Amino acid sequence: MTPNPTIAWEDRADVVIVGGGVAGLTAARAATQAGQTSVVVCKGGPVDTATQFAQGGVAVVADDEPSAAEHVRDTLAAGAGLCDEAAVKDILEAGPAAIRSAINAGVHFDTGADGEYARTREGGHSRARILHAGGDATGAELQRALLAAVRTQCPTRFFATVLRVLTNDAGVSGVLVHDDRGYGVIHTAAVVLATGGVGQLYSSSTNPSGATGDGIALALDAGASVADVEFIQFHPTVLFVPAVEGRRPLVSEAVRGEGARLVDARGDSVTDGVHPLGDLAPRDVVARAVHERMRTLGTDHVFLDARALPDVAQRFPTVTAGCTDAGIDPQHDLIPVAPAAHYSCGGVVTDTHGRTSVPGLFAAGEVARTGLHGANRLASNSLLEGLVVGERAGALAAQRAAEITDVRAAEVSVPRWRVVDRGALQAAMTTHASVVRDAQGLTDLLTLLDSATERALPVDGGSQAEVRGIFEDAALTVTATALARAALARTESLGCHTRSDTPVSTTSTDDARYDAAEDRSPVDVA
Ligand code: SIN
Repeated sequence: MTPNPTIAWEDRADVVIVGGGVAGLTAARAATQAGQTSVVVCKGGPVDTATQFAQGGVAVVADDEPSAAEHVRDTLAAGAGLCDEAAVKDILEAGPAAIRSAINAGVHFDTGADGEYARTREGGHSRARILHAGGDATGAELQRALLAAVRTQCPTRFFATVLRVLTNDAGVSGVLVHDDRGYGVIHTAAVVLATGGVGQLYSSSTNPSGATGDGIALALDAGASVADVEFIQFHPTVLFVPAVEGRRPLVSEAVRGEGARLVDARGDSVTDGVHPLGDLAPRDVVARAVHERMRTLGTDHVFLDARALPDVAQRFPTVTAGCTDAGIDPQHDLIPVAPAAHYSCGGVVTDTHGRTSVPGLFAAGEVARTGLHGANRLASNSLLEGLVVGERAGALAAQRAAEITDVRAAEVSVPRWRVVDRGALQAAMTTHASVVRDAQGLTDLLTLLDSATERALPVDGGSQAEVRGIFEDAALTVTATALARAALARTESLGCHTRSDTPVSTTSTDDARYDAAEDRSPVDVA
């Protein structure tokens, strides 16, 4: 029996947003515009988000496209048969309005010599439709502008960890938080999870250190469903620096969109004959081709050749800075790259307005599974989804808050989390659940995860780093368990879930879908 925490402080908010990237900030803006008080709670600092590191841009129907139909077609093709077509249409058709709203919030997208918004191309897109900012600093620009807009409108609490979404018979009643004052409760009827992804499940990732699957763990704990968590997208061109693990700099797919080529150490193309779109094939295809070439040649990286691009440093300042730090000049040197964990295509099951199966609990952005991404997300659809669904979820959360004004979380208990050592978990995930998986490896992974031991939170508070660390390890263990079980259950190769021991499918078999919420066993709570 885990003792209840000592609650040092209490607060009340109409809407609590957990996470401060594009989806969370957009939700906060929408809730505030709807007249409700929202508070943004983030366990990291103001720019410790995946949004901050997003490079390529925001995919949205181009001005010269008659409708969203082509963008929908590209998204469905990349998603390998697992997208929800109605959700794809709904979200993509809402794109232009979401972009206007972001521009109103102060986001500056790059323009060309003609004064029109500049558009680039990335993998899986049949045309150049991707808006970008600061060359390849699109996420940083969104983060800057949205944070500035939100900070004038509602409180933001950084370095505060949400440990549990509290519920009663009517749905959400509050959140249990730990910050520099110890444990506290914010009473609220509406919570928006915008916690981002799961990249820290792996030894190398493009994600920030806080991408530990928190939203998936919180949602499962609260009784919501998750789906498609086995579909982890590996970005094919992440800067390879020997012996460096943790967050690694991305080399945006837009570099290939502007003409760079993927080659091996002999100078041979990596993707010739693999897919009609070559280096600009959907991301799962290119990541597999890179993985296969590395395996064949016995190397740990291939190369991106961007030397023929006119002014790499000006068009791609973020990529150039990452390369410079590693002693590489992309205008003159080949850039060593290898796949690394990048994006979680599945997550907490929501509709296209961010509603989960728990009343009052919403999810938006990478943490959510709306049906837009299917088995493999189309490049640059994620920032768009964060803008569209974040705004809708914030507005709906505000509506619920207006309807339920007297909510009060009753008894607060601490989850009884079980954890596996983080280094061991990351090593096992990297070996057994990366670009290519098989049943034996996934079974070995589950054996490790089943050995998780109980780790109680300190009842009287403890340091912020200690509590955050325990919670993150628990969230990683829950998320890895759900992912491994889902990957084992899906006995087909589909999108970015490639099983070396099963055939490739082009359409999904829904009976291969594992339901963590129905199973409940990854969530061993008091
Ligand atoms: C990139 O710039 O290559 C990443 C864009 C994305 O993940 O959508």
